[in-house]
Amino acid sequence: SWSPASFVEHTVAELKKQLGDDKVVLALSGGVDSSVAAVLLNKAIGKNLTCVFVDHGLLRKDEFKNVLHDYECLGLNVIGVDASKKFYSELAGVTDPEQKRKIIGKGFIDVFDVEAHKIQDVKWLAQGTIYPDVIESLSITGTVIKSHHNVGGLPEKMDLKLCEPLRLLFKDEVRRVGREMGMPEHLIKRHPFPGPGLGVRILGDITPEKVRVLQEADHIFIQGLIDWNLYDTVWQAGVILLPVQSVGVMGDERTYESAVALRAVASTDAMTADWVHLPYEFLAKMSNDIINKVRGVNRVTYDISSKPPATIEWE
Ligand code: XMP
Repeated sequence: SWSPASFVEHTVAELKKQLGDDKVVLALSGGVDSSVAAVLLNKAIGKNLTCVFVDHGLLRKDEFKNVLHDYECLGLNVIGVDASKKFYSELAGVTDPEQKRKIIGKGFIDVFDVEAHKIQDVKWLAQGTIYPDVIESLSITGTVIKSHHNVGGLPEKMDLKLCEPLRLLFKDEVRRVGREMGMPEHLIKRHPFPGPGLGVRILGDITPEKVRVLQEADHIFIQGLIDWNLYDTVWQAGVILLPVQSVGVMGDERTYESAVALRAVASTDAMTADWVHLPYEFLAKMSNDIINKVRGVNRVTYDISSKPPATIEWE
């Protein structure tokens, strides 16, 4: 029967056999899946694994720095690349959601490709693909609902063999495997976060200033969930910066600033999701804190839509 311990033992043995002395490259995203895949591979092949963590400038507040530190503590051989400038300039003025995803996806591959080619004789690309990624990419045959770049994209271009040690696991199993290998709880319990990051949570065009506003608001919301012991009761949460300005008052000044939407959903696999009935007191506190502390925001709303027919992300 399946247990995290036997999965780790079995998979590490398999990876050793499959990979031998080959060099492997893996893109870390900060998420649970790629992190667990990295630790598993590190256990099997050690320094023959090179991890690349790209900052596209659309990560959460301080996420690049914090997660890079976590990875180093795990003993991973990791290269951090700050490519935010490249992404901001390529995204300037682009408003179409799929176009934004394409630019971010392609930019990511370009940056990753450069790093991968610095590794001599690299033979394998490892990915943290899990079972629902595989299913979702099969189930949308023909009609692309959203071009998720968790699956596909990288391998075709790079001419590398693909290694996906988690492809038969569900999220909860991935978390149990991570725990089994002694990974820190805060990494294991992290909510899922889309590959294009805040890029799909800034509706309309992306500017560094909008990223700053959203990072600040998102930080207050996520930290609030942690402080109120709500973080673990939620599958995924975040803030969306709306392309809407509305009138407000501050002291005796009239303001005309952005509105944001808070989003928190319960789910087991992201295929369906219910909005979470967060306590009113908590929502009130978040609204106050965001409006008072984040320059550029004067209105906070809460998204009460479930999936389907809405999706988790707004783009
Ligand atoms: P939706 O919005 O389709 O999202 O309900 C389902 C899950 O997928 C994440 N998501 C993405 N992940 N690249 C990704 O790697 C993407 O382009 C992308 N779009 C959505 C979303 O955060 C949720 O967990």
